[in-house]
Amino acid sequence: MDALLAALTEIVGPTGVVTEHGDVARYVTDWTGAFTGSTAAVVRPASTAEVAAVLATCRSEGVALVPQGGNTGLVGGGIPYDGEVLLSLERMAGPPEVDALAGQAVVAAGTPIETVQRAAREAGWEYGVDLASRGSATVGGTVATNAGGLRVLRYGDTRAQLVGVEAVLGDGRTVAHMRGLTRDNAGYHLPSLLAGSEGTLGVVTAARLRLVPPQRTRATALLGFDSLERAIEAAQLVRRASGDVEAVELMTEAGMGLVARVKGLAAPFALPAACLLVEVAGRSATDDLVEIAEGIPGVTETALAEGGAARERLWAWRESHTESINTLGPPLKLDVTLPGPALAEFIGRVPQVLAAVATGARPWFFGHVADGNVHVNVSGVESVRDRASEAVLREVASYGGSISSEHGIGRAKRRWLELSRSAEEIETMRVVKRALDPDGILNPGVLCG
Ligand code: MLT
Ligand code: ZN
Repeated sequence: MDALLAALTEIVGPTGVVTEHGDVARYVTDWTGAFTGSTAAVVRPASTAEVAAVLATCRSEGVALVPQGGNTGLVGGGIPYDGEVLLSLERMAGPPEVDALAGQAVVAAGTPIETVQRAAREAGWEYGVDLASRGSATVGGTVATNAGGLRVLRYGDTRAQLVGVEAVLGDGRTVAHMRGLTRDNAGYHLPSLLAGSEGTLGVVTAARLRLVPPQRTRATALLGFDSLERAIEAAQLVRRASGDVEAVELMTEAGMGLVARVKGLAAPFALPAACLLVEVAGRSATDDLVEIAEGIPGVTETALAEGGAARERLWAWRESHTESINTLGPPLKLDVTLPGPALAEFIGRVPQVLAAVATGARPWFFGHVADGNVHVNVSGVESVRDRASEAVLREVASYGGSISSEHGIGRAKRRWLELSRSAEEIETMRVVKRALDPDGILNPGVLCG
């Protein structure tokens, strides 16, 4: 190990290698506190050439690596469980190079999403991806995990933003497709393959992202419903009502009640059984949103915001869910998609399914419901996490749903991959893995490894 550390220090310099126990701690536990590992070294390269050299050195020594972005993934995919070297991309951050004419940004992997959003706005564009962890989640991490977030409905997931990617593959090759041609149909689309590969095929070092035109006006509404079923039905109707809908987020009375207690938020109306947070952005967002709120059956309460602090107050209800639930202890985080018509029934079934595993289990439901997603966070199952996961994920599979809507498989859901992918699909993934990472040094044990 000493020889390896010396070689790595040679490549990245003394400040690029972290070995002190206290300094390593923040890299080896994810922010929820649910996943903890250990490592002899955190290596922090500052360039693609350094990433390639670190990878080559570890490969020749037969030492595995776990790449890490902002460490805000939620499935343990960036944590070194078996003493792997942790490859942090945090030093590979810088101002995005925005091509204001093309509406594209070339960004280094370690750059936070918030920085991309700001740079895009300054150049007269927007970045289509937005998520509550925008300040910590990085471009490389969101590409590697194909992060979704709050606006998938309108702009698609991270994969849909990729005009190009630069990555160092497990076999040592650096591949880059960064010319920025949006029409470029010459063979396999490697950026798409790397998106969602969870650091198992290559280390994403930079990306060329498509930007979206800015919207003239934006309006946000909290709509109350007297049942979850009605809110879920309404989410489908909202989606159809206008092409300018950017977000439709479900919250329940229980989740909002918890947020109110933890964050001290004052509700705009007495909390109903369920709420949808709906955001519209376009030429006449407020008119559109008022028309939606009036035309959708089942709306019992409405609170409207036309930007600024009022908008932030409404979003705080939704964005504080993760943090508020975490105050109850590291929750089990499941993140699933159901076929639209099954969503309400599934949510209704989960408490019974969990009760059979642990009497104290408490599910919290929220999420991007117009895409069929629901985040199922569960508290009170610390000692039976795997059994609780298995019970809920099997229920998801029985409805033909997906065990990962947006967070990925990581280590947390590795053993249930076959609930969402056939044996042939998993074997094909392994063929690709062996081809690009022949020695299996990248993120072993994650996804299909
Ligand atoms: C979110 O949408 O807030 C996160 O993806 C879900 C979570 O924290 O479980
Ligand atoms: Zn989410």
